[in-house]
Amino acid sequence: GAAGWAAAATAAYLDRVPAAFRKSLPGRVLRAQSAHHLLLAAATGVSLTAGATQGLAGADLLALGVLDPLSLTGAVSAAWWATQGYAAWRLRRVLKKWQPKGKTAVAKMKTERVDPLIAAILSTWSTIAADGQPAIGHRLTSIQLWPGSHWEAEITTDGRPVAESLERPISAAYGAPVVTIRPGVHAGHALLRVDLVARPEGPSAQGLAGMWQRVADSLPAFKGSRVVLEEQTPFGPEGIVEAAESEVLPAEVDREALARKLGKDAGTDISYERQNAGSAVIRVFDTHPLRSGQAAADPGMIGGWAALGIHPDGDEARVQLWDKASARHLLVAGVSGSGKSVLLDAIMHAAVRGGMVVIHGDQKGGSSDYAGRIGAWTSDSMQAMRLGYALARHRATWPERHGRPWSVHDGPRVLLVLDEVNLLSSQGANGAPEAWGIAPYLATQLRALGISVVMAGQAANADEMFGTKTRDNLILNGGAVLFRTSELQARVLDHPILRECRPSEIPQYWDAPPAGLRSQRAAFDPSKYESTAGLGYVTRGGAPVLFRGYAPAVDLRSMHPEDRERWLDGHLAGDIAADRPEVQQLAQEWPDWERRQHIAMTAVDLADLDTPTGQTPTSGTTVSPVSVPPAPLREPTALERIVAALEDADPVDGMHRDDIAAIAAVSGNTLKNELAAAVKAGRVVRVSPGRYALPETSTDDIADADSE
Ligand SMILES: Nc1ncnc2c1ncn2[C@@H]1O[C@H](COP(=O)(O)OP(=O)(O)OP(=O)(O)O)[C@@H](O)[C@H]1O
Ligand SMILES: [Mg+2]
Repeated sequence: GAAGWAAAATAAYLDRVPAAFRKSLPGRVLRAQSAHHLLLAAATGVSLTAGATQGLAGADLLALGVLDPLSLTGAVSAAWWATQGYAAWRLRRVLKKWQPKGKTAVAKMKTERVDPLIAAILSTWSTIAADGQPAIGHRLTSIQLWPGSHWEAEITTDGRPVAESLERPISAAYGAPVVTIRPGVHAGHALLRVDLVARPEGPSAQGLAGMWQRVADSLPAFKGSRVVLEEQTPFGPEGIVEAAESEVLPAEVDREALARKLGKDAGTDISYERQNAGSAVIRVFDTHPLRSGQAAADPGMIGGWAALGIHPDGDEARVQLWDKASARHLLVAGVSGSGKSVLLDAIMHAAVRGGMVVIHGDQKGGSSDYAGRIGAWTSDSMQAMRLGYALARHRATWPERHGRPWSVHDGPRVLLVLDEVNLLSSQGANGAPEAWGIAPYLATQLRALGISVVMAGQAANADEMFGTKTRDNLILNGGAVLFRTSELQARVLDHPILRECRPSEIPQYWDAPPAGLRSQRAAFDPSKYESTAGLGYVTRGGAPVLFRGYAPAVDLRSMHPEDRERWLDGHLAGDIAADRPEVQQLAQEWPDWERRQHIAMTAVDLADLDTPTGQTPTSGTTVSPVSVPPAPLREPTALERIVAALEDADPVDGMHRDDIAAIAAVSGNTLKNELAAAVKAGRVVRVSPGRYALPETSTDDIADADSE
């Protein structure tokens, strides 16, 4: 009899666990529970016995008897609650662990103590479950509370089907505006949700198109636009924004404002990508597709492109380090810990695989484990800058020795990586005047010399990137990656391209710690929160688009030094600089490579800097870094403008002389003479009478078929 009772009670107990809940229980939780199983089963058994012997009133008495503590039922009821409470308390640790994550995590399973609300809910339920009432004999189990929002429960019957049309009476009994009942696992089982407040219309409730109506009504930039071709993706709704007739969609959006209009509270919860004047893709993320990091891809380059990570639409995020015409630069910005150095490691590794020679500098000192192996040179950024500058001077003066300009057939492509440049550019920094003198030269003159410049720092504003000319040349003749930046940066992202994104609004953690917790240092444990490191924007076709960089293959920092060495040796085998042919090629091309140590240690005399306008940059010894202007930059020459125009020319058909004249703003005889000289020098080729193009720089350059 006792065994039978225990078995029945256990089964009854299990019945109390919602099916969805049971499925999501990890084995650990089940194991932890088993110790207290009998306890809970016994308590539940008592409640069932009460229910069975005395009917619904018995069960209610057991649950609510505690309200009358001086009676016998009161004492039994109190003991019953105590047992429930004790078991829940014993299980609190395991129960806490698997609370659903994400936005719905605010939903707290009220297992730790019995909420007076539950008592009230049960009490009200008895009025509609009583004889002659619509829910006669229906039991309410597994009540879960979302205080101030809604509650959920399971409805079970004694075998009969759950009554139909219970929503209205339940709504009336609880005074709740919205009651939803969904079918359960069998006819006598249903899932109930009672909303205490009217639910705001979410994208799913009304559709993205419906939500967009509100946006179009209230944001002038989207007046008359609508969402078409809406689709539900695993991450949330996605659709095409279509501009009203003859209207143009904005390239820039205030992501925060737009996100709020779409029922989200962070700019990163949506993505907006304009495709052309009349259409854009809008995505609303219920689950962020970039939340879980992607493992690093096998590094390598295709046609000058290096893979960085993934965009929300699943496309690979990439940057171009060189194209047919020239090298391309990159600017990387982000606060400490936002993912800059991990990204630089990935780029450097891809570059080495792509046959480039890496020169690496990190002003913060702690040089990258990668760069130490694959970099042909690695030290601080000032030294790397000097070395890059000396190599550039060697290549720029090539015509004096060879009678023609340097070309990519004369030496390897080089990636000059300068990390933490803000430590070099900032006011009063050691070497700042020298760096301010060299940087504009690097950003403006190195592309034709096969040297790509990557500068990384805490911010993308001009004063941290050696002035507007330097910064803008990096972005416009290459691209930008913006990770989380400081809020103070929001107003100094003064480049039109950068203004389109708001890296300062990227939260530091995917789940924000409760307000105030971060200021209580003792209570705040950052390891409990998942960081957004690697989440940022990268320019794609000129506009910044959200992406997440590939996660590092292993966490080198947490490895034992010996394991780290072993891993690096294995992982980078074949990519070690000392064994690479292009490093030998560089040494042959540039005899001064032998003296690289000396060059890197010797300050550049700013008077030596090539300034074709004849002006000499101010010397560093007399001017403080604050007032050091970047070296005065000259206007591009006619030839440079022609070459720039030809970068857009069809490599086969070329560009007509009249078009070149219009684009390069070079007229008549000057154009004729310049073109003739350029053809002779091999910098431009005449493809047919009156039509010109840039020479193929290398046969193994794969024309990139990218649609951008
Ligand atoms: N794409 C990514 N996915 C997951 N984790 C990442 C990613 N990028 C970086 N991280 C994590 O963030 C940590 C900090 O990244 P990283 O060192 O690149 O930052 P940083 O911007 O260079 O910071 P600092 O200014 O301190 O040098 C890394 O140790 C790594 O664990
Ligand atoms: Mg770093």
